[in-house]
Amino acid sequence: MKKLIFLFIPALCLAYLPSVVHGAAGNAENGKKVYEKRCWWCHGEKGEGNGPAAAFVNPPPRSFADAVYKFKTTQVDNLPTDDDLFRMISNGMPGTSMPAWADMLNEAERWDVIAHIKKLGQGAFEESKFDPVDYSGEVASSPDSIAKGKEIFQKKAGCNECHGEEGRGDGIKAMKDDIFGKRVWPRNLTQQWTFRAGSTPKDIYARVTTGIPGTPMPSFTKGNKTLTNEERWHVANYAASLGDARKMLKEGEKVVKAVFAGQFPTEINDPKWNAVEGRVLPLIPQIIAQERFFTPTNTTVLVKSVFDKNKIAFLLEWDDRTGSVAGDEAVEKLSEGGELNPDAIGIQLPQTIPTSMQKPYFGHGDKEMGVNMLYWNAGSKDKKDKAAIYDAGGVGNKTERPSDKSGFTATSQYEKGVWKVMMVRDLKTSEKTDLQFEEGKFIPLALANWDGSNLEKGSKHTITTWYWLLLEPAVGNEIYTYPGAVAFILVIAQFLFARSQRRNFS
Ligand code: HEC
Ligand code: HEC
Repeated sequence: MKKLIFLFIPALCLAYLPSVVHGAAGNAENGKKVYEKRCWWCHGEKGEGNGPAAAFVNPPPRSFADAVYKFKTTQVDNLPTDDDLFRMISNGMPGTSMPAWADMLNEAERWDVIAHIKKLGQGAFEESKFDPVDYSGEVASSPDSIAKGKEIFQKKAGCNECHGEEGRGDGIKAMKDDIFGKRVWPRNLTQQWTFRAGSTPKDIYARVTTGIPGTPMPSFTKGNKTLTNEERWHVANYAASLGDARKMLKEGEKVVKAVFAGQFPTEINDPKWNAVEGRVLPLIPQIIAQERFFTPTNTTVLVKSVFDKNKIAFLLEWDDRTGSVAGDEAVEKLSEGGELNPDAIGIQLPQTIPTSMQKPYFGHGDKEMGVNMLYWNAGSKDKKDKAAIYDAGGVGNKTERPSDKSGFTATSQYEKGVWKVMMVRDLKTSEKTDLQFEEGKFIPLALANWDGSNLEKGSKHTITTWYWLLLEPAVGNEIYTYPGAVAFILVIAQFLFARSQRRNFS
């Protein structure tokens, strides 16, 4: 019996450990040490959001000195609870540079650092109330609730004025800043993987209820756009239903497959594109060559490709809040610094197919292995769509040549926060430096993307690393059906053989 108690007590302690750690407020002195090791280089020594890394991240790190917190489950004018802070610190903030600390700091360290950052708020936490958001009237998601929510989103609440008609964050009518004068874009609600604080209806209900302090996103519990509790649940259910996983990254997909098309798509909205499986490639800022770039806005590109006996086509689709065409005054107003460059995208390919799994240097190739860049930009209001081919053999060694000799064309469409660009090129050309496409070979492929209203131009843009393009051999009739037929005949033969054996023995 004694032995049992001996075992029982530690077990009991263990069971209560998480809540004990939670209940006991963190130790601010220990927290300061954690902070000075892990947090200060973004959030600054005194928590003013001005650490040495702050200039290179977008959005900027939070100023704990100002004690303006965005994500919480307390009423509008309240500060976040310790549990809110614990959740944000543990999970990090997707779509920003704020890391998830759950694997790097143990729970006690996380509570300690919370005690420290609250102290940096210069008394704000001692003065605040912490009245929780009331979730009790929850309305479960259903087609009916989502339909009601859509109506509220587009009319009564006017979420669309910022988040756009279909939620891609493209509704912005003017340049909007947060209270610190920094640029803040309405979230693209179709990209749920960029939500800072969760994308369930319950999370979104909390955002709509409390607003996102310090940013243009208001609370809908006050002012002329007040929503009832039930309406906030409907609109949250609708917003949560907008997620579009087609443009979400999937791990480990390195090959863009071009499929053989009996019938080649003739334009961007040709329904034949719907049957083609795409690959999502992540865009990363170009930080290798001068001038470096750290603050991108576009995140991923969906790439589709088809070919026939003569041509290859690419359909590139990406979300961009602003369709930047030079000379468009409405978009110019939204541009950083008032300057407006056209949006652009390029596909980089080697000039010759490498013999091994070798790739050119991905910043414009090198002397041994030059690259082609199939380039499009939005052009200007008077002259839409610029298409060009560039040859390059290393950074700064780039020449443009006419695209018609390669049968290269690029057309575009911008609608509701989405660019679609279709590029077509001849499979084989007589141009010396053109890549001659071949079936069944792995061809390195990389993208470069420019968001004009984000001041991206020249070397300031996003890129992907190298992927592989594979023109899948035009099977259909010959290769695939052939083994199928052989297998079928074998099965029949075996069956006949087995039957003949049985006969022989019966
Ligand atoms: C690489 C930079 C970086 C580091 C390191 C970093 N943060 Fe952050 N943190 C950010 C950014 C950026 C934001 C603001 C994101 C936004 O506004 O959407 C942020 C926001 C926060 C917030 C605010 C959450 C809210 O609801 O508003 C807390 C709390 C926080 N960080 C805590 C920490 C702690 C604690 C550490 C160290 C253990 C840390 N951060 C380290 C970049 C960083
Ligand atoms: C005046 C402009 C504006 C309006 C109106 C507006 N939002 Fe927002 N919303 C924003 C901005 C800006 C952000 C990004 C804030 C940030 O993280 O810095 C945002 C962010 C969000 C997020 C992201 C939360 C997260 O965890 O990342 C959601 C969800 C959201 N809004 C839903 C809504 C819904 C639903 C409505 C209508 C009921 C609405 N918004 C109305 C400007 C607005």
